[in-house]
Amino acid sequence: MKNCTKELYLEVFGEEAEQLAFAPGRIEFIGNHTDYNGGLVMGAAVKEGITVAVGRRKDRTISLRTEASKRVDISLDNLQPLQGKDVWINYPVGVTNVLMDAGMDMPVGYNIAVTSTLPSGAGMSSSAAFELSTAYALASIYGYEADKAQFARIGRKAENEFVGMPCGILDQGVSAFGEHNALVRIDCKSESFSNLAMPKGTHFWIFDSNVKHALVDSAYADRHKECHDALSILQNTYPLAKSLTDISEEQLRTCESTLGPLLFRRALHIVGENDRVRLVEQALQINDLRAVGNALYASHESSRVNFDNSIQQLDFLVDALKQQPHVYGARLTGGGFGGAVMAYTNAAFGESLANALSLDYKEEFGIEATVLHTSAGSGATLL
Ligand code: GLA
Repeated sequence: MKNCTKELYLEVFGEEAEQLAFAPGRIEFIGNHTDYNGGLVMGAAVKEGITVAVGRRKDRTISLRTEASKRVDISLDNLQPLQGKDVWINYPVGVTNVLMDAGMDMPVGYNIAVTSTLPSGAGMSSSAAFELSTAYALASIYGYEADKAQFARIGRKAENEFVGMPCGILDQGVSAFGEHNALVRIDCKSESFSNLAMPKGTHFWIFDSNVKHALVDSAYADRHKECHDALSILQNTYPLAKSLTDISEEQLRTCESTLGPLLFRRALHIVGENDRVRLVEQALQINDLRAVGNALYASHESSRVNFDNSIQQLDFLVDALKQQPHVYGARLTGGGFGGAVMAYTNAAFGESLANALSLDYKEEFGIEATVLHTSAGSGATLL
């Protein structure tokens, strides 16, 4: 990928790039929608990701180009989010805007060429990979210093304030802190990041449903708001709670009727997920992979019945994976409303089982489920 990004840059801009950077996509292992609720979450960076090549220009233009899209030129002096077919530029341009606000000096604009090895729309967060790779590359050529946590926050800020997606820190945090064969654990309240070794001989399989809810962004924003509304009501009884994850399941149950059925289910998902992250962490420490797997299935079930962010295609994939002896557990990964299912398996789960499952899926829904066998890889880096 490094070479083809370099070549794309050379072909489009007629000179060598100054700097290349790579940032990975991510798997959300456990902790669904807990990040913007001040909770715990675990993910893994994958080997696949986004590579950018950048170089400074002599004027104040930013010129952007991907393998798949036409070149777009904008002025560094007028950074505005775009709508429509060029909406992809909001990720690098948003990062540029945040870096400038943070004091990065940009006397001239830049060229950027972008390539990806991530399946698009699979819920593996190509957006965070785009933000982080751009942030690393730009910081390098303009001489701005930041650590991994700061880069993760820069990416999130671009996404929240420029792209307009009210996400938490999961995607950017995992893309920054990924390590070979390790999970990234994030305590989103203190924004502290750590790594946990993955048990040997365990594997990740991604089954992309190839379905994307038409209103995925607004559905995400709706859940964000519902969590906020549930917290406001709960704070009347528990004034010290700063986020939903400060409330125990027992406390939550005492407020069921005040919350009403919908907000109660939303809050139950968040509180339950946070407990499951703790449970998975303990189970991983003693190598109890059955307990880990059961928590993954329980997470999916809670998405299905409490958070309403699953869809029948994802439920089908999880149910089918549950029948397989070599699968510890499976669940939807990421925001939901489409996207992918992650299966956590032993080494005996292989290509032929995965393909058979994908065929069953096609028979049921008339579309392919794209299969990806991947493992935990390193975080964002300059190349
Ligand atoms: C998306 C968001 C993340 C997180 C997950 C759900 O991936 O970008 O911040 O909220 O959904 O856990």
